[in-house]
Amino acid sequence: MLRRLHHEQPETFAFTPANQAWAEAQMTKFPEGRQASAIIPLLWRAQEQEGWLSRPAIEHVSDMLGLAHIRGLEVATFYFMFQLQPIGYVANIQICGTTTCMICGAEDLVSVCKERIADQPHTLSPDGKFSWEEVECLGACANAPMAQIGKDYYEDLTADKLRALLDDLEAGRVPTPGPQNGRYAAEPLKGLTSLTEYDSGKTQYNASVQLATDIGDTVKRIDGTEVPLLTPWQGKAANTGRKPAAKKPAAAKSTNRAKGKAAGKTGVTKQEAAATSAPNNDASGPGTKPSTMDAPRASGADDLKLIKGVGPKLEGLLNTLGFWHWDQVAKWGADEVAWVDHNLKGFKGRVSRDNWVEQAKRLAAGEQTEFSKRARKDGRYEE
Ligand code: FES
Repeated sequence: MLRRLHHEQPETFAFTPANQAWAEAQMTKFPEGRQASAIIPLLWRAQEQEGWLSRPAIEHVSDMLGLAHIRGLEVATFYFMFQLQPIGYVANIQICGTTTCMICGAEDLVSVCKERIADQPHTLSPDGKFSWEEVECLGACANAPMAQIGKDYYEDLTADKLRALLDDLEAGRVPTPGPQNGRYAAEPLKGLTSLTEYDSGKTQYNASVQLATDIGDTVKRIDGTEVPLLTPWQGKAANTGRKPAAKKPAAAKSTNRAKGKAAGKTGVTKQEAAATSAPNNDASGPGTKPSTMDAPRASGADDLKLIKGVGPKLEGLLNTLGFWHWDQVAKWGADEVAWVDHNLKGFKGRVSRDNWVEQAKRLAAGEQTEFSKRARKDGRYEE
């Protein structure tokens, strides 16, 4: 497919202040003189903000990275994930047209797109709300046919189900992603035939869908104000709040590397070293910090690894944050879960993903879970 810039281009492009801060922070990930390596995340951010990549956006990013415009254009036109033309302001529907999906009905889905959106791919619907394209295998072949809409997958589709999804999106609703035929994940249509013990204690949706619904930004454009907007290698200096940064980003101000100082022999600044050796413990993050303890009670710490999803590393992180006992975890409400999820560096989102609170409630009440029974028996933990 010939990938050219769109015939109509805006005059200018600018990141939102928060996205500009994020972009500048991304550039600090690379050694001085190698900022060009940040081109893909920066182009992607520009696309997430605007929906597509215009020439001014590509040139703006190239300028930020000290690149000739042609270098930015080379990258943007090479990768198919970069949209070089406007997409629907509600959603761009990406239908998988590779073998499995094709056999299972992708052509029907394409017909719906032609009928509801536009006869040709990469074309806006008359009201500008939608666009569509055919893409290569998205790796969800067991749930074929499927489509990616915004950031999420909608699987086990039929023509009618896709029409219903479009109706929902058109009406401003965001349908629940994942299998659309009642399947939990990619198990046999008639239900599990093995590993049935894993049925208990699972989240409402499978892990991907649960995370997608928890985050809730399926078709939302990124403007930089979402939580969390993290630049963890810069510690607390990063812009992590809901409000866009009002002034010059902390990123540019505090970047020792950008100023040519500080990074020691290892190339790691003190700030970076601190950021990699401790949990975030970020007071400016989302949620409410639960009450913590300086040390376990005299009776000794509980084995937090009996909570499914907590392995030795996470247990250590939890202890560092001041959590030693099941009953502490059992008391977390939604706000506290949000705080802990945010502060589990490298394991963000685990508390809700594995429903630690429910598990901890049972353990604190002296009960066993399927997982704790098994872990106690064979000493195997999960992380
Ligand atoms: S063939 Fe469609 S997801 Fe793999």
